[in-house]
Amino acid sequence: MEIKEALTFDDVLLVPKVSKAYSRRSVDTSTNITDSLKINIPILSSNMDTVTEAPMAIAMAKAGAVGVIHRFNTIEGEVNEITKVKREQNIVIEHPYIVKKDYTLSELKSLSLEKGVSGFPVVDGTRLIGIVTRRDYEFETEPSKKVSEMMTRDVISAPKNVSMESAKTIMKREKIEKLPLVDKNNILVGMITARDIKLAEGYSNASKDKKGRLMVGASIGIGSDYMERARKLVDAEADFIVVDVANGYLEKVADVVKSLKKNFKIDVIAGNVATREGVEHLKKAGSDAIKVGIGPGGACLTRPVAGVGYPQLAAIIDCAKSGISIIADGGITKSADFAKAMAGGASAAMVGGLFAGTDESPGAIVTKENQNYKFYRGMASINAYSDRAIKVEETVDLEGYTPEGTEKLIPYKGSVVKIVNNMVGGLRSAMTYLNSENLKDFRRNASFVRLTESGKKESKY
Ligand code: XMP
Repeated sequence: MEIKEALTFDDVLLVPKVSKAYSRRSVDTSTNITDSLKINIPILSSNMDTVTEAPMAIAMAKAGAVGVIHRFNTIEGEVNEITKVKREQNIVIEHPYIVKKDYTLSELKSLSLEKGVSGFPVVDGTRLIGIVTRRDYEFETEPSKKVSEMMTRDVISAPKNVSMESAKTIMKREKIEKLPLVDKNNILVGMITARDIKLAEGYSNASKDKKGRLMVGASIGIGSDYMERARKLVDAEADFIVVDVANGYLEKVADVVKSLKKNFKIDVIAGNVATREGVEHLKKAGSDAIKVGIGPGGACLTRPVAGVGYPQLAAIIDCAKSGISIIADGGITKSADFAKAMAGGASAAMVGGLFAGTDESPGAIVTKENQNYKFYRGMASINAYSDRAIKVEETVDLEGYTPEGTEKLIPYKGSVVKIVNNMVGGLRSAMTYLNSENLKDFRRNASFVRLTESGKKESKY
């Protein structure tokens, strides 16, 4: 039997090239994770229950990357996380707080305090009849004074499908902070505020869907509820679905991909595989991108338990030759690994452990000997397995379960934004060393040199 040799991140270095004077800041790191989904930062946060729920996904999308919500929850629980992300930067408030014309000043003030909002559309039934903002009532002192005596009657409104640009023009011209939206019968159907527009513009790099909301992925398994879960996640407007299976070579994974593609108009990313054969298996089923990585993850035990896997960099290089978008999943412990994964042909990298232990990762901070930590665990660890069973009310045989994931405490790291910035900083630096203005150039210009033991020492690996 012939045994191949295959290398991984720390076995190699990228070779520098004579370079035009690209500044790190000017290189373009945008990527297509599928033909139709483009993001500015080629990173996905892992669909793991100690990594990605709504706060992580929101931070990722604001930074220009994207989070994938884990599936180790009830269907409603997962849908809820997607909804939270979709509500986060929605410049149209679909159900604004309202007041009626006979509300008193004291009722208005207490509502304002309770909701943290200073201005309200005034409605008669559901019809818009005015607006009352702080300017209308801040110098009023009579607690029983009615909203109808204070409100602005000739309220400026816009049709419900107004674009963000037209809304901005109207608000600037009319010097207003709040723009109620109405249908043709003057029924209040939403509101846009200057504050939300400013917030949205502050994140110019953000990953957004066609409606201007933050992008987010959802994951499913191949268990009996997969179709129902997928349908509800599609209804919640997740931007793509990850078919998350440790062993993507199973025929069932291809069957699930086929039925998702047949039933829904949504991009599907399936995995995990680590060879061309595995990629072809999922590509043929209709997957729009493929997750590559068997066992490189920081909390993975697949290799010591089953003895199965493929060194991750070699797997990426081999799989990327298939031409379909490859998501390099697992084993990224520093920005250099990320740069090598991208140079090796990945369209993006999926990251778990590096993002665990942050403000945005789920779970409480644990203090041990004056040091703060958060838990990070593999989804095939015994605790993840049993916690999921409890959540979805399923009986499982814990005795007969061989875990292929571990659990560990990760020192608390603060905000994940800093970590993303460091990763992207490393990638940008590598791109300038390789004379690459964008990721396509980077792949084309990449060549690796193999390290000896002393080369590794010299490289601080
Ligand atoms: P990192 O290295 O970023 O890897 O922490 C995250 C990826 O690890 C995978 N994963 C697992 N693999 N057993 C495994 O063999 C597990 O229990 C497990 N949990 C997660 C997954 O692909 C993730 O994105």
